[in-house]
Amino acid sequence: MTERDRWASRIGLVLAMAGNAIGLGNFLRFPRLAAQYGGGAFLIPYLIALLLLGFPIMWVEWTMGRYGGQYGHSTSPGMFARLWRSPAAKYLGALGIALPLLFTVYYTYIESWTLAYACFSAGGRYMVATPAEARAEIPPAVPGFTAAEVRSMLGARGAGQDSPLSRAQWTGPDTAFTALDANVDGRLDTAELRPVLQPLAGAHTNQFLREYQGVGPPGEHRFFDSLAPALGFWLLTVALNTWIISRGIAGGVEKLAKVAMPLLFLFAVVLVVRVFTWGTPDPSQPDQSVWVGLNFIWQPNFAALADFNVWLAAAGQIFFTLSIGTGAIQCYASYLKPKDDCILTGLTTAATNEFAEVVLGATIAIPIAVATFGLANTQVIAGQGSFDLGFVALPIIFEQMPGGRLFGTLWFALLFFAGVTSSVALCQPLVAFLQETFHMSRRVAALVCGAAMIVLGLPIVLWLKTGYLDQYDFWVGTFGLVVFALIEVVLFAWMYGGENMWHELRRDAEMRVPRVYYYVIRYVVPLLLMVLLGGWCIQSLNDVVLLEGVPRENVPYIWLARATIVLVILAAGLLVLIARRRNRSWPV
Ligand code: PHE
Repeated sequence: MTERDRWASRIGLVLAMAGNAIGLGNFLRFPRLAAQYGGGAFLIPYLIALLLLGFPIMWVEWTMGRYGGQYGHSTSPGMFARLWRSPAAKYLGALGIALPLLFTVYYTYIESWTLAYACFSAGGRYMVATPAEARAEIPPAVPGFTAAEVRSMLGARGAGQDSPLSRAQWTGPDTAFTALDANVDGRLDTAELRPVLQPLAGAHTNQFLREYQGVGPPGEHRFFDSLAPALGFWLLTVALNTWIISRGIAGGVEKLAKVAMPLLFLFAVVLVVRVFTWGTPDPSQPDQSVWVGLNFIWQPNFAALADFNVWLAAAGQIFFTLSIGTGAIQCYASYLKPKDDCILTGLTTAATNEFAEVVLGATIAIPIAVATFGLANTQVIAGQGSFDLGFVALPIIFEQMPGGRLFGTLWFALLFFAGVTSSVALCQPLVAFLQETFHMSRRVAALVCGAAMIVLGLPIVLWLKTGYLDQYDFWVGTFGLVVFALIEVVLFAWMYGGENMWHELRRDAEMRVPRVYYYVIRYVVPLLLMVLLGGWCIQSLNDVVLLEGVPRENVPYIWLARATIVLVILAAGLLVLIARRRNRSWPV
């Protein structure tokens, strides 16, 4: 057995952990959710979820990782088996191998778009419109609807009134209802509303993205003839991840973080400055300004607290952005020295993540989009999905901006750095598991991981249109995280024992954790996680489980995606079984 990998320096550890957490979630997912759920209305549940779920689970994961590392376990099967002396524990831990692998499979594909778009921005590839044409693609400001209009539109469809109306109230006291509010749940799609509901549908950057992803109607070949560029950038991204992982913790992951994280912050600051100087691009439209956008994000709105969906979205984002509930944090923390502090260092990296999210992430995409397209349009664009804001709306803005190629390149390079420091963290559990229990060399283990990413990723690339990726995003990136977090918290705070947990958590800590967190971890967290799971089950019963509104031809692909997820989890369980047979040093 070779000597256990260790972080080479504390700053390297902090940067790598921050890199793990700071990802596409901070700069694409958060702004989208914030815009969609009413800006400041979103932030309150978000901050509450951070305090009640984010911090405690993060501490649990750091501590569990350090604890497992002392026994030579970098991944959850071994860690769980130490915490709970039951043969079942290690199989539950198999989730901590399968989930991060499944996560990285779809995450690296999105990451590869950012690499591609950094190149496209540098080369001006999508910047084909003249300034006048680009300006013409800016959707007209949406006047909004009055409550009576919304009611009559909904009434015409025979739909219920409560939820859109209560939701619409958040946009401000005297607001007319925005198109998004009126169209909550996509229930309205009248001809009259269509241009308002899909403000960028006709934009050339939209066509560019769709052709690149191969999801447009057949026959559109203005920018790309085939999926070859998307495949090429994806394979390159997978290869890069594999290479970094094959160089080890100190030699690969830590070195990457030391280069990528400072650059990421530098680019973000340059972009934030650019956003502020964008100001009010069209003086004849004073309510379309960066300041209106910032105000939208920062003005709290307590009415939103009544809507359970906002809470679900906010808590889900806390999981996604802090990288909790996958096994990725535990794995990095297992390379701590046995007496290293978890509490203060963990808090530092989480705080860095929050700074990157609510300060930098929120200050780039939303304000500049509001200044250019107006608040209502920005909300509609955000409501259309994860990528319209970052890959369709922002490119139009870069196109009109002096120096737009440079700023576009910085934006997508920032996303790429954010992405790659997260995806390597997601690869690490499988690689570490193969190294430790199957005695593979790091390089071979990394190659196995890369091969798995290609085999599992190919359907995602080829069948994006069918909603294949969305299945991963829901079952792995949303639901799976909470299931795994529930398992680990119950194991640590109950099976291992409350006082043991509390002792291990505070051991060698450089900061005191208030005692309330003992109760939070033991009672509040598991309870809230169960509420979240229940909430998702109810919320997604129709569209996710019963596949309502899903085009028929997509249904087989969706089942294939689900079957693959289940198979990967079972395969991880099988690996654990084999590992246990070969490796008698495991406790149970
Ligand atoms: N936290 C990352 C992001 O915000 C995603 C991630 C989740 C990374 C889980 C690792 C583990 O994009």
